[in-house]
Amino acid sequence: MVYESEQDVLGANDVVVANWAPDSWRGHEGLQMPTYNDAAALGAAEKQLSSYPPLVFAGESRALMADLAAAQRGEAFLLQGGDCAESFAEFHPNNIRDTFRVLLQMAVVLTFASKLPIVKVGRMAGQFAKPRSAGTEVIGGVELPSYRGDIINDIAFTPESREPDPQRMVQAYNQSAATLNLLRAFAQGGYANLHQVHRWTLDYMGRSPWAKKFAQMADRIGEALDFMKACGIDADTVPQLNGTSFYTSHEALLLPYEQALTRQDSLTGGWYDTSAHMLWIGDRTRFEGSAHVEYLRGIGNPIGMKCGPSLEPDALIRLLDVLNPDRKEGRITLITRYGHDKIEAGLPKLVRAVMREGHPVLWSCDPMHGNVIKAANGYKTRPFERILAEVRGFFAVHRAEGSFGGGIHAEMTGQNVTECTGGAIAITDEGLADRYHTHCDPRLNAAQSLELAFLLAEMLNDELAERRKAAA
Ligand code: PEP
Ligand code: CO
Repeated sequence: MVYESEQDVLGANDVVVANWAPDSWRGHEGLQMPTYNDAAALGAAEKQLSSYPPLVFAGESRALMADLAAAQRGEAFLLQGGDCAESFAEFHPNNIRDTFRVLLQMAVVLTFASKLPIVKVGRMAGQFAKPRSAGTEVIGGVELPSYRGDIINDIAFTPESREPDPQRMVQAYNQSAATLNLLRAFAQGGYANLHQVHRWTLDYMGRSPWAKKFAQMADRIGEALDFMKACGIDADTVPQLNGTSFYTSHEALLLPYEQALTRQDSLTGGWYDTSAHMLWIGDRTRFEGSAHVEYLRGIGNPIGMKCGPSLEPDALIRLLDVLNPDRKEGRITLITRYGHDKIEAGLPKLVRAVMREGHPVLWSCDPMHGNVIKAANGYKTRPFERILAEVRGFFAVHRAEGSFGGGIHAEMTGQNVTECTGGAIAITDEGLADRYHTHCDPRLNAAQSLELAFLLAEMLNDELAERRKAAA
């Protein structure tokens, strides 16, 4: 497409946001960000990042926005997942590959069950900064600043390690660039071939205790693929089967970093955060007037917002008015994270308020962050049954309210870790000690992630059948 003039495209997708600049957040209350003691070093790192290439292109963020708008209308489903916190220590191509692979496997299962396109968004290539419940940590009578993610400080419990270091932003940028480069290659270079993805699932199922339960669905996927192949539809004839689209996302928490990667799109004149396709705002920083809300309202990317039990409906509506004044479809994904025992009581009032006001939003379920418990042996964990119960509650609420639950947000990894208890492999409290590697919250391992996808597929299938019945 050739644009006649700048004016033709200005206003089509982007609005010039009033009284906003990439640094206007600095005049607002910013929680969960470190105090850098060396202002000169901070300035140097910001300057360095400002001169680096953007990681994503604004047009890609707009494509994601269109995909999310489809999910909002019930014509697609969002699968967002990856690490709680990426780390410098676990930066390895195999880790990237394995998480990507499990996300693809989950997507195939969900596509088959729902007959909807699955919008795949990784918590990858930039998910480094973490909000913490306390500013300091005390071990053996020694008090030090909390670990806030590798982009800010080091997890080791020494005063030097815990000192925020601005050069870590540059290292995080470089790691994100390399990660994204590999993800793009995997997504488009033939690795994501649909037949291959299904073969991995079959291999995997051969070794899993829940293979029997889901064998029928897997067989049906295989039959569908064989049928397509016999009709001449395979990766050689239809290039779409050989590749897939894959987007990145992270919590926009460390605003000096996000600001340094904020660029004006040369096509439309709008501002975009080019550190990821989608950014979300955490449950602890999404209050009215916060620096994080101020920053996010001005960028053109699709935005997620975590919604926990402390969010009142009126406040939610005011936040939506600020973040999406033009009520663009696909702009806002509300990621609810109540906890398995709170969702059915808490979520309906938000859904009702949003429907009453007519704000377009995509509802997505984060069944992870409201379900953290401490195991008897001290490990922070999430029981698989509670995760599943929250997903069930999420669909039940949306069914009752007449809205569409259109996404899932999971903390997971392709590695065989032991961080969440339960699942068909039945990780016990004692088993948590075996391979507990997370830098922050406990993640579903590869088997648990795929098991969740199969269970979610069953639920989605039921949901969509109900919807078709209601529409008939
Ligand atoms: C997270 O997604 O890692 C997170 C910290 O979530 P929340 O803001 O919902 O607690
Ligand atoms: Co987390």
